[in-house]
Amino acid sequence: MTTPQTTSQTTLKVLIFGASLRADSLNRKLAALAARVAAATGPTVDHAEMRNFDVPSYDGDAEKTAGIPTGATELRRRLIECDAFIIASPEYNGSMPGMFKNVIDWTSRFRPQPFDGKHGLLMSASPSMMGGNRGLWALRMPLEHLGARIYPDMFSLAQAHKTLLDGDIPDAALRARFDSTVRAFLSLAEAARHYPCLKRAWVEFLGQPPDPAADRVDPVSAS
Ligand SMILES: Cc1cc2nc3c(=O)[nH]c(=O)nc-3n(C[C@H](O)[C@H](O)[C@H](O)COP(=O)(O)O)c2cc1C
Repeated sequence: MTTPQTTSQTTLKVLIFGASLRADSLNRKLAALAARVAAATGPTVDHAEMRNFDVPSYDGDAEKTAGIPTGATELRRRLIECDAFIIASPEYNGSMPGMFKNVIDWTSRFRPQPFDGKHGLLMSASPSMMGGNRGLWALRMPLEHLGARIYPDMFSLAQAHKTLLDGDIPDAALRARFDSTVRAFLSLAEAARHYPCLKRAWVEFLGQPPDPAADRVDPVSAS
């Protein structure tokens, strides 16, 4: 019996960060816990800080004159280097933080489009009883629009000021759910490296009649 051929002998690489600039951020702590669980599972972890990706408000004129700012360039660089990402994002007013959407908008200006084809797991922590889960549904939308493969399961930690203590989730059942969500996601991301999808291009402005003047098409590079 022959050993199955794989597309890569390298280790899965996962970018992980909390989408909050706050020093005492609950989401930063949840991201750190995800990084520990991921690293123990096998992949190489690139554990980033939101501050690495900080950018001024998107301005099309500034883009023309000064180009894409450093924070978005850094997120692009680290996205290109990873197979998958895990983001722990706060919920602001029932949605994703404007600061993070702004980073995504700047980063989406690169071609090839850096989110395209990356597998993503979304998680949140909030003092509320909802755990910030509504914000993740909002975050899912631009990321999927940009071609990321967002994992169907999401993890939202409710009452995180009480349930996330010393960087860990003391409740055994919650912690087991957290671990299994992270591990199941990493298994899928690993499997996807060996079974690349058939998608050939990322096309913006889906639904409009094809029009070279309006469409921006990134052919998927052969791999
Ligand atoms: C502008 C603003 C809006 C917020 N809106 C919500 C909300 O809609 N739902 C929620 O669960 N928490 C909301 N919060 C509370 C945040 O979940 C809480 O501050 C959380 O700790 C922020 O994440 P971080 O600790 O990672 O910075 C809001 C906080 C701010 C500052």
